[in-house]
Amino acid sequence: MSLFQMTGRHEGAKEGGSGRVAMWLLLPPLFVLIVLKTDFLPQVVVHTVSYAGFDNARWQQHPHDPEAVKEYNHQNQILATNGPHEDSSSINSDTGASVSKLTCDFGNPHSDTCTMEGDLRIHGKSATVYVVAASTHRPENSTITVRPYTRKWEQETMSRIREVTMRSMPPAFSFVIPPKCTVRHDVPAVVFSTGGCGTNFFHGMSDLVVPLYITSREYDGRVQLLIADYNAEWVAKFRPVLAALSTFPVIDLDADAAVRCFPSVHVGLESHKKMLAIDPSLSRNGYTMMGFRDFLRSVFSLQRPWATPVRLGSGQKPRLLMVLRRRSRELSNEAETIAAMEEIGFEVVAARPEDVSDMSRFAGVVNSCDVMVGVHGAGLTNMVFLPHNGTVVQIVPWGNMKWACWYAFGEPVPGMGLRYVEYEATAEETTLKEKYPRDHPVFTDPQSIHRQGKAWSTFLNGQNVTLDIDRFKAVMLQVFQSITTE
Ligand SMILES: *[C@@H]1O[C@H](CO)[C@@H](O)[C@H](O)[C@H]1NC(C)=O
Ligand SMILES: *[C@@H]1O[C@H](CO)[C@@H](O)[C@H](O)[C@H]1NC(C)=O
Ligand SMILES: *[C@@H]1O[C@H](CO)[C@@H](O)[C@H](O)[C@H]1NC(C)=O
Repeated sequence: MSLFQMTGRHEGAKEGGSGRVAMWLLLPPLFVLIVLKTDFLPQVVVHTVSYAGFDNARWQQHPHDPEAVKEYNHQNQILATNGPHEDSSSINSDTGASVSKLTCDFGNPHSDTCTMEGDLRIHGKSATVYVVAASTHRPENSTITVRPYTRKWEQETMSRIREVTMRSMPPAFSFVIPPKCTVRHDVPAVVFSTGGCGTNFFHGMSDLVVPLYITSREYDGRVQLLIADYNAEWVAKFRPVLAALSTFPVIDLDADAAVRCFPSVHVGLESHKKMLAIDPSLSRNGYTMMGFRDFLRSVFSLQRPWATPVRLGSGQKPRLLMVLRRRSRELSNEAETIAAMEEIGFEVVAARPEDVSDMSRFAGVVNSCDVMVGVHGAGLTNMVFLPHNGTVVQIVPWGNMKWACWYAFGEPVPGMGLRYVEYEATAEETTLKEKYPRDHPVFTDPQSIHRQGKAWSTFLNGQNVTLDIDRFKAVMLQVFQSITTE
């Protein structure tokens, strides 16, 4: 956008339309001003050839977008005609002193993050953060890019995430002229992308909401959230959480033509290398998943902080939430299972996908229960709303899925202050036996299906579960006994 970067690149010249020609005419006065302001004549002369290479990021990004072209030209003209008198801050050599700092962490396997302080200017449309007069500036990494999403190891997902560029400029003279601020914010900014998860509840929580909490909760609402790859449905779904983390409306980064100035900026969300997890030892503020769940309880006005043992004969029954799926990993003997749970003594709350979709309402239902049971799937993410000391029972479908299921919904459970019970379906309990003979690798060597990359289609999307009622009942009886007293 509105900066002229005099690097040695020449690719911009051939792409210019008539607007670019007009800019060329406006450049000489600006060039003279730079020279006058900075006493930098020898170097400027050396670099004059590179006028052909002003930053053309926007042309590369939206070569056919007439709006983008118009705005690009408009911004450049404003800068070129304003001159340094009207906005001396736009030429950083004025200050002489270093005012900004940029540090990045590329070592986390889940997410790359950069943190900045000082004179920071975000132009959303070009997804660029200008780090003005950076004491941390190095010529070799004056341009750093980050895709602000927390599944770094998943190439396909990351390819859908917009790259955010940080341009840092040296404290002394820079050939990069940062754009002038059109909006000033006195709170930190947090930039992240919603392009990687659709509205899947598990990914929404694990990839974004938990990392967002880790990154932004400390500001107690005094923080501006800027969202790349803006997913309106995701924003609508998590609005109550976003509103609790930030008192300001979120900004759609990609659509934002303003140049917003911030005293500090985070690009990318901090992630603690596990699903649905906060590691207190990695958290600046000693945050925990229990604290996160207390936060959610307050956001959704949930009544029960703790699940306490139910006394038998008191007329009360422990409440068992059954998260029921449709299409795949469905319990094909749902009614029988529910009846068996009632026989044990549970009060069963059956939740079908349509009951679960309204998160705010369903959070209250979950919180009213003591135990949650379901076949592996995003619905189990609702465990975040259970009262502390509640119990999660994950039914692992057939197909050597134990590790993957545990990783998503087993490992995080103790950290949430909940108790975990696992029930692994046997080859007798899967509808795959209607599709494959028993000597098929699906049964004899499920790991070979994983190696062929077909685990998802075969074992997650390809089966329903028919529970062995007696076997399942025995497990649930133990759960019942553990949460009741005489
Ligand atoms: C820039 O490169 C230097 C080494 O040349 C490194 O120490 C520094 O951390 C890098 N800065 C960022 C923000 O990556
Ligand atoms: C699971 O059961 C439902 C209802 O009978 C059916 O529509 C669906 O196709 C089944 N899914 C699989 C993967 O077998
Ligand atoms: C948590 O649950 C266990 C088992 O029901 C019970 O013994 C314990 O007292 C509970 N803890 C609290 C704090 O309620």
